[in-house]
Amino acid sequence: MFAAAKIDTTDKHVFYAELASQLEGLLRGESDVIANAANTAALIFHALPDLNWAGFYFLRSEQELVLGPFQGKPACVRIATGKGVCGTSVARRETMLVEDVHAFPGHIACDAASRSELVVPLLDSAGRVLGVIDLDSPLPGRFDPADQAGVEKLAAIWIAHSA
Ligand code: SME
Repeated sequence: MFAAAKIDTTDKHVFYAELASQLEGLLRGESDVIANAANTAALIFHALPDLNWAGFYFLRSEQELVLGPFQGKPACVRIATGKGVCGTSVARRETMLVEDVHAFPGHIACDAASRSELVVPLLDSAGRVLGVIDLDSPLPGRFDPADQAGVEKLAAIWIAHSA
């Protein structure tokens, strides 16, 4: 059984280093894409304070992301590349840190409670975009560059085990 130890969230750099270590342990020896995405979403959702959604969207064709494993309320299944925060992250191949989703043109509201969002693209070793990790918070401005760096590291760990 994997027991996620409660992590002190005072220092985000310490927090994400510990969370990365827990994720390494959780994924070690397993390469199944769905299982690893499901456990990564669960670990993130329960470890990070003030989230209402955490999960994966996978690029199923050049045009479209499709919902993957997640924690939170049921969500939009398909998002076109270039649309919403997730589709924009794929099109730009870069992390989107959105402090106020209401100010983001084209934001797709799956859960009306969401106020800020962090979307990290999943890039494999060949530079292909496989999908995104999407985190939503009911608090405006929940995510900062330390969260971005921390979640990008978690995405890299997932890629290393699953792609
Ligand atoms: N808000 C996202 C859609 C996915 S949900 O937040 C789970 C977007 O604009 O792409």
